[in-house]
Amino acid sequence: MDYRKLGRSGLKLSAVSLGSWRTYGVTVDDAGTEACLKAAYDKGVNYFDGAEGYGAGAAEAAMGRAIRKLGWPRDTFCVSSKVYHGGEGPNRTGLSRKHVVEACDAALRRMGIDYLDLYFCHRPDPDTPLDEIVHTMNGLIARGKILYWGTSNFSASDLLQMGAIAERDGLIGPTMEQPRYNMLDRARVETELAPVFDRYGLGTTVYSPLSVGILTGKYNDGIPDGSALAQTPHLQRRLTEENLAKARAVCALAQELAMTPARLALAWCLKNPRVSTALVGASRPEQIEENTAAVEEVEKLDDGVMSRIESLLAGAGGDRGSVNSNQ
Ligand SMILES: NC(=O)c1ccc[n+]([C@@H]2O[C@H](COP(=O)([O-])OP(=O)(O)OC[C@H]3O[C@@H](n4cnc5c(N)ncnc54)[C@H](OP(=O)(O)O)[C@@H]3O)[C@@H](O)[C@H]2O)c1
Repeated sequence: MDYRKLGRSGLKLSAVSLGSWRTYGVTVDDAGTEACLKAAYDKGVNYFDGAEGYGAGAAEAAMGRAIRKLGWPRDTFCVSSKVYHGGEGPNRTGLSRKHVVEACDAALRRMGIDYLDLYFCHRPDPDTPLDEIVHTMNGLIARGKILYWGTSNFSASDLLQMGAIAERDGLIGPTMEQPRYNMLDRARVETELAPVFDRYGLGTTVYSPLSVGILTGKYNDGIPDGSALAQTPHLQRRLTEENLAKARAVCALAQELAMTPARLALAWCLKNPRVSTALVGASRPEQIEENTAAVEEVEKLDDGVMSRIESLLAGAGGDRGSVNSNQ
């Protein structure tokens, strides 16, 4: 495993990390959750991502049960939670100080831990001023509840304003952003957010590096039973002709390079030095074995291969400049 610094912070995260959206505590039972976390940890993964909204807390609870059962020393792994979607009611959602503090305590209870290594605002909240968020997160750091705070799916403009607020008030600004980033959806990271990452030394915990599995080629000939897109029909809108053409082209190149499509897609993400860690999802331990092996294949992506990837993404209907909407 390769370990990368989270932006300019001193924290080191495994280049491939594991998330829990749609899987643990939801479609994967406790035995499967434990098997996936163990497979990841045994391969050197040291970062596991949750959110209060994943299965309405069930994902974090399942990860917590697995972590306790596996008995990992606390200083050998990092966990994150994300706050926004806490449920019905005016103060159980969003980024108000009340909800951010209460959601942090709830995540700690669910996972059975004393502090979160990383805590994210899951998406922007137009009802909460940015300075309230910056001050609340600093309060949680001061109380030892979280170590690093960041954002997910935030705009460059919001990130710049938060950085400026933190500088103005002598506080700690966001350390990281969690954006979607993969071969099919790259413009926000590469175009919109890149200057902000550089300005504030932000790290990134990029999500959906396989585009929920599309880049593994598993949807090239239809939707397999039991797959993520079969279980979550609204995600099928990502199966556009353009995306499928790109996935098929990635599969053909992977075969030529003696790599699997999943490893090629992940290695491509990791080639971007602004990526601190690529957060994969996995419903089975074998997928983790496969995905963590991508770390060793990054060096196969030399200039020649990278320019072939550029051509195939463009030739398969790619539009590098388009900005897809966040989910
Ligand atoms: N901040 C946000 O708004 C946000 C949004 C989305 C995700 N995330 C985070 O990022 C994590 C990863 O997102 P993601 O699930 O979209 O990641 P992904 O890695 O793009 O897709 C993961 C899915 O692809 C399939 N898969 C994985 N490896 C495979 C392989 N080697 N071969 C074939 N199929 C494979 C599995 O689905 P099946 O086996 O079920 O088909 C798996 O659940 C989430 O768990 C979550 O923690 C954050």
